[in-house]
Amino acid sequence: MPPVLSVDDVSITYKTREGPVQAVRGASLSLDRGEIVALVGESGSGKTTLGLAVLRILPRNAEQVAGTIRFGREDIGAMDRRELQRIRGDQISMIFQDPIAGLNPVITVGQQVEEVITSHRDVDKREARERALEALNGMQLPDPSRIAKSYPGELSGGMCQRIMIAIATALDPQLLIADEPTASLDVTVQAQILYELERLRDERGTAILLITHDMGVVAQIAERVAIIYAGRMMEVDDVVPLYRQPRHPYTWALLDTLPRLDRRRARLRQIPGGLPDLQDDEIGAHCAYLSRCPKALSRCREDAEPPLSEVVGGRSGQRLACYNPVLEI
Ligand SMILES: Nc1ncnc2c1ncn2[C@@H]1O[C@H](COP(=O)(O)OP(=O)(O)OP(=O)(O)O)[C@@H](O)[C@H]1O
Ligand SMILES: [Mg+2]
Repeated sequence: MPPVLSVDDVSITYKTREGPVQAVRGASLSLDRGEIVALVGESGSGKTTLGLAVLRILPRNAEQVAGTIRFGREDIGAMDRRELQRIRGDQISMIFQDPIAGLNPVITVGQQVEEVITSHRDVDKREARERALEALNGMQLPDPSRIAKSYPGELSGGMCQRIMIAIATALDPQLLIADEPTASLDVTVQAQILYELERLRDERGTAILLITHDMGVVAQIAERVAIIYAGRMMEVDDVVPLYRQPRHPYTWALLDTLPRLDRRRARLRQIPGGLPDLQDDEIGAHCAYLSRCPKALSRCREDAEPPLSEVVGGRSGQRLACYNPVLEI
């Protein structure tokens, strides 16, 4: 069985008036059926860009300039518009970072859930309505049938987020891209949403790419983590060993304040300095983390960016892009 999703050496550039922004450079990642993989990195590191590329819904000024993205055996880049429409929302769906922007303000939320069902399945109105209510019921909303008749503007951000999740999961997608699905929610609702995502994975085998800032969320439900920095994947590993022994100095810094798995709501710590300028021609000439790295060697200043490669003597699937990894903590 091929992985549900394979992202192979993908680079994405935005055209802007000030010049090209290299948002993602050489990203590789794969997800198997029933696997939850977290994509973690600070704001502006290219997480959403990569998620949008999987569905081929990048903004107009963006271009995937290299690499391939496969859904099972199918090359997403080679699909025509009809094939894309067939898989979007049905086999691959996405929970968007901004729940309000993802919903149509002038259509009731119940109708919006129904619409995704009727556009992909041969069902009559009554059955679509039943299935939509079922999807909303799964989201722990108070009085789902009343909420189905509401417009997005009448609901809180957290409720809209759950409607988006109901829409994204109504058709049992094989792959779900969840972009900060719990960012705007309080802790109890967040726990419910994470539970729903886990249930989807357990009961239906959905593969989930979970985009998040929240290392507590990662520890709760992901099996693997990909750490992304300035559009580059720095470290990919299973959650437990990565938390126990981060190898990349950036991962180490991210985890510095929460070395244990039992901290629930810890956020990414502020690391001194900022992301490099993604418009700089020099980007890629050396490791992107160089200016902030306490472990930088002269090699890091002289050599080209380290490739994301397997770790000698490491676990299968463990990959690292660093010349001077952290050995012991
Ligand atoms: N439409 C656009 N035009 C030009 N540049 C863009 C556009 N969208 C994003 N970018 C730039 O691409 C880079 C990656 O952005 P992206 O939104 O993918 O990051 P992110 O990791 O999702 O951040 P956040 O955690 O804040 O959501 C950033 O430098 C951002 O400014
Ligand atoms: Mg984003």
